[in-house]
Amino acid sequence: TIPHPLNIAVAGTGYVGLVSGVCMAHRGHHVTCVDIDVKKVTMMQQGISPIYEQDLEELMHLNKERLTYTTDYKLAYKNADVIFIGVGTPELPDGSANLAYIATVARQIAETVERDCLVVVKSTVPVGTNDKVEQFIKDFLPTDSENEILGKNSKIKIEVASNPEFLAQGTAVRDTLEAARIIIGTDSIIAKETLIKVYEPFGLPIVSVSRRSAEMIKYAANDFLALKISYMNDIANLCELVGADIQDVAKGMGFDGRIGDKFLNAGIGYGGSCFPKDTKALDYLAKQNGYELRTVKAAIAVNKDQKVLLYKKACKRLITFNGLKVAVLGLAFKPGTDDLREAPSLENVPLLLAQGADIYAYDPVAMDNFRKIFPETGTESKGEQGKGSIKYVESVEEAIQGANVCFVLTEWGEIKAVKPEDYKRLMRTPLVYDGRNIYAVEDMKESGVEYYSIGRKK
Ligand code: UGA
Repeated sequence: TIPHPLNIAVAGTGYVGLVSGVCMAHRGHHVTCVDIDVKKVTMMQQGISPIYEQDLEELMHLNKERLTYTTDYKLAYKNADVIFIGVGTPELPDGSANLAYIATVARQIAETVERDCLVVVKSTVPVGTNDKVEQFIKDFLPTDSENEILGKNSKIKIEVASNPEFLAQGTAVRDTLEAARIIIGTDSIIAKETLIKVYEPFGLPIVSVSRRSAEMIKYAANDFLALKISYMNDIANLCELVGADIQDVAKGMGFDGRIGDKFLNAGIGYGGSCFPKDTKALDYLAKQNGYELRTVKAAIAVNKDQKVLLYKKACKRLITFNGLKVAVLGLAFKPGTDDLREAPSLENVPLLLAQGADIYAYDPVAMDNFRKIFPETGTESKGEQGKGSIKYVESVEEAIQGANVCFVLTEWGEIKAVKPEDYKRLMRTPLVYDGRNIYAVEDMKESGVEYYSIGRKK
């Protein structure tokens, strides 16, 4: 019989691990979140979320009776019914996923569990990884003689199931509590029943498949979304050349239920910790298996160019950025997060700096993270060849005040709220490059702003 509520341990307290753990506690389970980062664990113990995510701290507080945070994995795994692995699988230089963190957790599990338990891989992992994790755990389980010395039960059974996560940053809590589906990947009846028990209180549709199919669903879904975006960006670039408007085109396409009206926004390319990594990882997996995944390859190629498209447009319009005051609005890869991974800002800012631009950057939450990568420089370059500068300011107005050029890189609400006449009034020369198509072309024109966006008329 499977107990309820369950005793759950979660390895890794990044977006996937922490949000899943907190949401499972919210649905009544007892959850212990494990991380090796002492600083993070101390913060969580004080009720502070180490990541910026809407509603997360509130839920941490609301469910604090059922939540434990620790660096002591032994304590967490020893008596757990279910152990979720939610550690990172960052990209290696060759595009493959780095499974070192998964392996470490698998080994720790093998060495500490004292009773039967289910290990659930939530991290995004290449197809076949669950099989490897299961083998790895078996390989590291204490031998009969070691068990005897330790006085431990040698008949422990550990099952491994795949349960990929589909939450998006910024809406992670809602995405988890109201997920479109729960994917359960296992051929074991007991593993399946246990996972059903975990998710029963969520009341969500469950899709039960094999482990390998579950692993593939995650990549196939993410890469499809990435493809959708790259496709729209490709079409947007063509729209510009032939005088069509990508937003009208997207609207017209979206009415077709087979296409859907979401994820059709052309822009400055997809970023974040998932799409760039997962497209490359699937491409790599295909290559490893002697297959060329041409569609995904194309999505990657389009995205690479898209990220610097506005910069290139601006280079055609201006003689130089040298000594120009350049406002950069939005640094995070998307609104609602302070995450900078693969953000277009990371590509555009160095290009502008190399050209001697004096950047005034603003983001409502990601500035502190950006500052760590690009520390504020002292004085402005004042046109000194090749010596750009960067300054962080406290508001959109401060960034665009007296600017020669403005780049919009993230569609934060408060950036959207800027009125065309504000650009006209505050900028020295109202020249705006909008990577998110957030203003109406006509309004900008009427206000006297020279406005360039993606896939629309000038
Ligand atoms: C993405 C998926 O949406 C989640 O379902 C998945 O669980 C997650 O990856 C993951 O694998 O962990 P996320 O990367 O947080 O979530 O963010 P998205 O909202 O999907 O946006 C990704 C990028 O696509 C952003 O740079 C965004 O600006 C861009 N995008 C999105 C567009 O350019 N156009 C659109 O129409 C939609």
